[in-house]
Amino acid sequence: MSTRLCALADLTPGTALRVELDEADVAVVRVGDEVFAIEDVCSHADYPLSDGEVTDCTIECELHGSRFDLRSGKPTGPPATRPVAVYETSVIDGAVYADLNAPKEEN
Ligand code: FES
Repeated sequence: MSTRLCALADLTPGTALRVELDEADVAVVRVGDEVFAIEDVCSHADYPLSDGEVTDCTIECELHGSRFDLRSGKPTGPPATRPVAVYETSVIDGAVYADLNAPKEEN
């Protein structure tokens, strides 16, 4: 079942929007025409990724600089070594949805 995350218009390219839900906290990022939803908890030390910087399809954790691929959740720069969950998104009538019970990548 898909959960509404935000309005597409709420997203500013280059920054992540933190969405707090019962199921999970999610960082939502728009890159061009694509929208990514990634678990908003850095796998290194449980810090919100949404506070970090977005470059292309990468989000960098503000605390110690780990980088994660928004498409896969896999770490692409240390110190994190474990992936974070990413969710399939869809945009319907100007709103962003994701199935938070079916992450594309498990920790
Ligand atoms: S908490 Fe994210 S890199 Fe350390």
